[in-house]
Amino acid sequence: MRKIQSTTEFTLFENIDELDIVVKNLMNEAVNARKKAYAPYSNFNVGAAILLDNNQIVTGNNQENAAFPSGLCAERVAIFNAGANYPKNKIKTIAISASSSKHKVINPVGPCGACRQSIAEYENKQKQPIVIYFMGEEGQIIKVNSLKDLLPFGFDGSLL
Ligand code: THU
Repeated sequence: MRKIQSTTEFTLFENIDELDIVVKNLMNEAVNARKKAYAPYSNFNVGAAILLDNNQIVTGNNQENAAFPSGLCAERVAIFNAGANYPKNKIKTIAISASSSKHKVINPVGPCGACRQSIAEYENKQKQPIVIYFMGEEGQIIKVNSLKDLLPFGFDGSLL
């Protein structure tokens, strides 16, 4: 038996103005997408914006449903949108923003477990890391250099 330690590098930005112009623009697209979310049940709005290797930006937001499990998170709406419309393009970066009409979301909101699994599929498919930035409504932003940093020991197709 032996213990193995791993370290993960995160970058913390104090606010959106610390981002470089390309990422700041992408995060603003996520905020715009967030404002169009359909979330009448949770009142928790999430937007995601994806930057492709052709510099195209693809967005998504959460789409809820009266039958709750039939709804879908913003990140998966966005990444399935990219996968459906740009199957040959690589995903460089994803920006995510979340807000609530009940309280101010000032802490960064990372993608849920199911979204991490979905993003992992595309990272494995393209054999290139996807950089992810996530924030709340405003305030601090966390950057990870790869989805793998959010999902160690993930399940992938090589196991099948
Ligand atoms: N939600 C997302 O869109 N992304 C996440 O990563 C977490 C949760 C949505 C799903 C649901 O519409 C609402 O936020 C509350 O869970």
